[in-house]
Amino acid sequence: MLGKRILIGICGGIAAYKTLTLIRLFRKAGCEVKVIATRNALSFVTPLTIETLSNNKLYVDMFECGTERTTEHIALAQWADMAIVAPATANIIAKLANGIADDALSTTLLALSKPLFIAPAMNENMYEHIAVQRNLKLLEEYHYHIISPEKGMLACNVEGKGRMAEPKTIFDRVGKQLQQKILVGKKALVTAGPTCEPIDPVRFIGNRSSGLMGFSIAETLADKGCDVTLVTGATYLKTRSQSIHRIDVNTADEMLQACLPYADKADIIVMAAAVADYTPETKADHKLKKKDALFSLNLKPTTDILKTLAKNKTDNQIIIGFALETDNELTNAKQKLHTKNIDFIVLNSLKDKGAGFECATNKVTVIDKNDNVIEIPLKSKQEIAENIIQIVFNTPKS
Ligand code: CTP
Repeated sequence: MLGKRILIGICGGIAAYKTLTLIRLFRKAGCEVKVIATRNALSFVTPLTIETLSNNKLYVDMFECGTERTTEHIALAQWADMAIVAPATANIIAKLANGIADDALSTTLLALSKPLFIAPAMNENMYEHIAVQRNLKLLEEYHYHIISPEKGMLACNVEGKGRMAEPKTIFDRVGKQLQQKILVGKKALVTAGPTCEPIDPVRFIGNRSSGLMGFSIAETLADKGCDVTLVTGATYLKTRSQSIHRIDVNTADEMLQACLPYADKADIIVMAAAVADYTPETKADHKLKKKDALFSLNLKPTTDILKTLAKNKTDNQIIIGFALETDNELTNAKQKLHTKNIDFIVLNSLKDKGAGFECATNKVTVIDKNDNVIEIPLKSKQEIAENIIQIVFNTPKS
């Protein structure tokens, strides 16, 4: 961690006292630490303590006289290798989710394009509130790393989930991310989202997919220093990392054509897209009118992109596919792994609660070429992505 630049945001919550230990942990590890505190945070911790521990000036106000420049929030966002908000109150979580920038901390975080860790801390009822949970889900979609609060005695004297994760837990999680620039110089090709096969200018056939799993994989690879090309079907998701080269496509054929030029140079290929297996034989050039009769469509198979790319697989390439199954999950996934000639398959089962295409969470099973099976329990898709990449790069090549 030596020499890394850590930006810490402190909000107004009793857990702010623990953030002082977090600052010490980073400083002891040889990091440079700068802190932005909200006005309310200063009811819990003093500027003098923060400045002494961080060995840097504390930032609180946006337009302080005497500062080096009035665009300090941009300079801080550019300076940091990563940022952590601890404790993150319901307020900052809501601001981040909605792009509100009304103080030094929220403005700086909006200008940040580096990894951002959020350690919520609040009363259990607040934490479980539908609005807070919705906002946290949005932050997951922005590829922020949520460090879940722990269960225990809360400041309001009740037991519950809402205690900020311990400083050492936060430190270890961030440390893992920092140490893992293990893929510098590597190239990755990742696909995500659904393909839409047009029937006419208005309708299409497609699979249900938000794209979040593929985007989380792409962000994880980029955070590790990989040069990533992300080919995505229709999705509302945005990419955070500036090092991701994003190509938007609609149909399976467009996805195939977009992948081909990058496939042979890629060290790792991850096919997380939900590619339609069939496409209409013809596309009407006008909107088809409703008739009071049976209607049938002629469908032709699409090209299996994964299988096509795997045919030309080189010895040093790692290819990962996904399998979404509803029954005979393990058998079907293993069959896909071997018939498509890939190195790993990541199995999602629609039977698992909280897993699949419309959740911010997932639960998967990773199977390697030798049929070794590793289960990853229910977690955020960002954490699942990190686990998958960890498994892939720790598995000896056979
Ligand atoms: N895939 C692909 N091209 C297709 C269909 C699927 O590249 N035309 C990829 C998916 O991105 C995924 C893997 O193949 O990584 C498995 O996809 P899945 O839909 O689970 O399996 P299929 O091979 O389509 O088989 P089935 O639909 O019969 O389960």
